[in-house]
Amino acid sequence: LRHEQPVYNEQAKFWEVSTYEDVHLLVTDHELFSSDESKFTPASEAPALKSILNMDPPRHRQLRSLLSQAFTPRALAQLTPRITEITQELLDAVEKKGAMDIIDDLSYPLPIIVIAELLGVPIEDRPQFKHWSDEIVSGEYDELTGENRELVLERVRQRVRKTMDEINEYFRSIIAQRRQQPGEDIISALLAARVDGQELTEDELLGFCALLLIAGNITTTNLIGNALLCFDEHPEAMVQLQQRPQLLPSAIEEVLRYRSPVTILARFAASDFILKEQLIRRGQVVLGWSGSANHDPDHFVHPECFDITRSPNQHLSFGHGIHFCLGAPLARLEAKIALGMLLERFTRIRITHERDLEPVNSTFIYGAKHVPI
Ligand code: HEM
Repeated sequence: LRHEQPVYNEQAKFWEVSTYEDVHLLVTDHELFSSDESKFTPASEAPALKSILNMDPPRHRQLRSLLSQAFTPRALAQLTPRITEITQELLDAVEKKGAMDIIDDLSYPLPIIVIAELLGVPIEDRPQFKHWSDEIVSGEYDELTGENRELVLERVRQRVRKTMDEINEYFRSIIAQRRQQPGEDIISALLAARVDGQELTEDELLGFCALLLIAGNITTTNLIGNALLCFDEHPEAMVQLQQRPQLLPSAIEEVLRYRSPVTILARFAASDFILKEQLIRRGQVVLGWSGSANHDPDHFVHPECFDITRSPNQHLSFGHGIHFCLGAPLARLEAKIALGMLLERFTRIRITHERDLEPVNSTFIYGAKHVPI
C-alpha cells in the first residue's frame, strides 16, 4: 500500500493512508482533518463515546488542559512508588508458580489498578472493566471489508452503544457520590474544575471517565505484552538490556515503533481536497495506519530491524499534534517499572507455546491475547 497506493480507497466509503508523511499530516493538520464525527454524521449515528478524542478546538483545548494536570512529571513522580509496589505484589504472586502469562498476571492488572486508583473506583469491579474494554475494541477487519459490511458495522455500533450505556450508568452513580463526598481522585478534580467559570457538563465528565478507563488500560497492556514478543524474537536485545538497564526507555520506544499497540488513527475530511491525486470529499473517513507509518523506510533507517538504541525514533504510536496521547508519560512509566522489575528478577525469560499465540481480536489494537513465559 505504502508504495503502490498510498492513498487507498477500498469501499468507496473510507480512505486509508499508510506512509509516514501522510499519517503525520492526518494527525497534525486538524483543520483539514477533523476528529469531530458529529459535524458530519446524523445525530442517530453519533459516536457512542463522546470525549476529547472526538472534539476539535476550541472545546478540545479547554478540556484537555484540565486533564493534563493529572499527568505532569510531578504527578507521575508521586505515582512511582505505588506502581512499583503493585508490580512487586503481582510478581510475588506468580513467582511461586514458575510460569506466568504476561497479560493475565502483569500487563492487564497493572494499568487497570493504577487507573482505577486515579479515578477512585473500586478495584473489585476489575472483571467488569475488562469486559467493557474487550467489547469496545473487538472486531475483525475481514468482517468489516466483507460483503455484509453494513450489517456488521451496525452490529458493532449497537454493541459499542450498549457497552457505553453500561459504562455511563456506572460512572453516573460514582459522579453523584463524588459530588456529595469529594476525594483526591481525578473525578473529584474534574467536578471542581471550571472553564470560563462554567462546570463541565455531565456528558463531558462521563466522556473523560470512559476514555481514561478504556484508553488507559488495553493499550498499556499490549505495550508490555508486545515488549516480551520483541525480546523473545531478539534475545540479544534482552541480554543487552539486562547488562545496561539504562537502555530500557529507548527499548520501550522501539517496541512502540516496531509493534505499535494502536495501529490505526481516524479522522474526517473537513472539506473536499486532493491528496496525492485522489479527491477526498468532506465528511469522508480517512484512516491512518500508524503501525505502517512506523515501518516506512522513507522515514526510518532499516525499519524492519529491532534496534533498542535507535535514535531519533519519532514513531507515531501515541499520535502527534493536538491529540497526542495524554497518558503517554504514564504508559511509559508503567512499562519501564514493569519490564525493569521483570528483567531484574528473572535472568532467562522465554515465551512458551509460541505457535499458539493468538492476536487480540480488534481492528485497531495490536498484541497477543496471552503471552505465556
Ligand atoms: C490519545 C495511544 C496509553 C489517555 C491517544 C492517541 C493514541 C494513543 C494513538 C491519539 C489518538 C488520535 O490522535 O486519534 C496510546 C498508547 C498507549 C496509551 C499506545 C499505551 C501504550 C494511555 C494511557 C492513558 C491515555 C495510560 C490515560 C490513563 C489518552 C487520552 C487521549 C489519548 C486522554 C486523548 C488525547 C486528546 O484527544 O487530546 N492515545 N495511549 N492513553 N490517550 Fe493514549
